[in-house]
Amino acid sequence: MIDLQKISGLPIFLDKKNLELELRGDFPSVKKSARTLAELEPYLKTSGVGSGPDPVYRMWREAHLESDDQNIGVRNLRYDLTLLAQGRINGDEFVKTAGHFHEVKTGTGLGYPEIYEVLSGRGYFLIQKMDEAFSRAEEVYLIEAAPKEKVLVPPGFGHTTINVYDEPLLVANWVGATMSYNYEPYKKYRGAAYHLVGNEVGGIDILKNSNYGDVPEIKKIKARELPKFGLIESRPMYELARDLNKLRFLNYPEEFANDIDTKIIYNF
Ligand SMILES: [Fe+2]
Repeated sequence: MIDLQKISGLPIFLDKKNLELELRGDFPSVKKSARTLAELEPYLKTSGVGSGPDPVYRMWREAHLESDDQNIGVRNLRYDLTLLAQGRINGDEFVKTAGHFHEVKTGTGLGYPEIYEVLSGRGYFLIQKMDEAFSRAEEVYLIEAAPKEKVLVPPGFGHTTINVYDEPLLVANWVGATMSYNYEPYKKYRGAAYHLVGNEVGGIDILKNSNYGDVPEIKKIKARELPKFGLIESRPMYELARDLNKLRFLNYPEEFANDIDTKIIYNF
């Protein structure tokens, strides 16, 4: 068991071998689920359920403490944990989450954003923007993050989390609790605009997903701190449960349009 209390700000312990988390505290609303290989199949580079870890990942939704339950509920926010297995699926594709887009907030033209934090392992976050009809990818970025680093998924971007390392990857997220998700583009094109696959010499290849037709070049960028939103390396993201004003941008992106613009955050 790996003690993640200090890094996460929660009484949680990681069992890498069994791809499990132990929540040692009062988590009044937590809902645990798993994504199986069969469920992930429509999002994979190669069709069919072949080899790979099963389940591919586990999720703990609403993983907040009783003492923060009321404040989080009033603010209409959600804190989740996702634990991805290590390994490859159907031969060479690295373990990943299905991928989805977020609802566009009525009257604003802005999709709901989300923030992630790596708690154990190393994460690759592949984010992409598409045209309104989801017929082509317009911008694609790959953000690598180590433990304590935070990653903002800006309005309008779909996202998937990929684990290329040989240990499980645990990530946390804060997101608006009532917006809806759109998984269809990722299903239609069998994943993101690029697939991350392991090659024969132990390296990582980043392959264009030909189902998209032409795709823009993928740009690699680094995670960075966003102090305005309380997103700094030295502070577990969960602690924002006691400073929820900082997370207002998740439900009211229109009030922060300039601050969460991709060009400003990542200097694109
Ligand atoms: Fe999301």
